[in-house]
Amino acid sequence: MVKELEELHEQIRQCQKCELYKGTTHAVPGEGPHDADIMFIGEAPGFHEDQQSRPFVGAAGQFLESLLASINLSREDVFITNVVKHRPPNNRDPQTDELRACRPYLDRQIELIKPKMIVTLGRHSMELAWSGARISRIHGTPKKVGDIVYFPMFHPAAALHQPRYRSLIEEDMKKIPQVLANLTDIDEEDADPSAEQLSLF
Ligand code: URA
Repeated sequence: MVKELEELHEQIRQCQKCELYKGTTHAVPGEGPHDADIMFIGEAPGFHEDQQSRPFVGAAGQFLESLLASINLSREDVFITNVVKHRPPNNRDPQTDELRACRPYLDRQIELIKPKMIVTLGRHSMELAWSGARISRIHGTPKKVGDIVYFPMFHPAAALHQPRYRSLIEEDMKKIPQVLANLTDIDEEDADPSAEQLSLF
């Protein structure tokens, strides 16, 4: 598995499936234990991530690290990645064709790592399990899809730009240990049947 994940990450580094690679310094495949129980999925690399080829190393990353510390985790305990592996120009939102082109990499990472829980950060990764949902309505509410419990949170950058999100993000993060301890209590019947999976990308 470690070798397969490393090979996948090498493919991501060479990827030219969409135009995004053109303006970038590095791809950012993601990092963390190959058998992590929890995977955090953000949106796309920003300036610092592109420079260092590591996810969440800028201001949003520092906040994410402090959120992890609040539940006694460090970034080395979890796998951290993004829905898009190259930085979009000027940090614009990833476009549908870019999300679609990158999606197989994320699917394969999930398949290889087999996390018990996926924490989505922001609305782009929320789409993995809640298509078309409003993040302000569903944040902090777990949902099981297949064998994995998804847990949607606001993006940490949202708290940096809009301080009113800060306490919401902090509260949601503090729910994670309990969700993780009670994974088997969450069944798929609890899932919102109107939420079609995977429609955006
Ligand atoms: N924001 C993201 O969504 N991902 C990163 O890696 C950094 C900032």
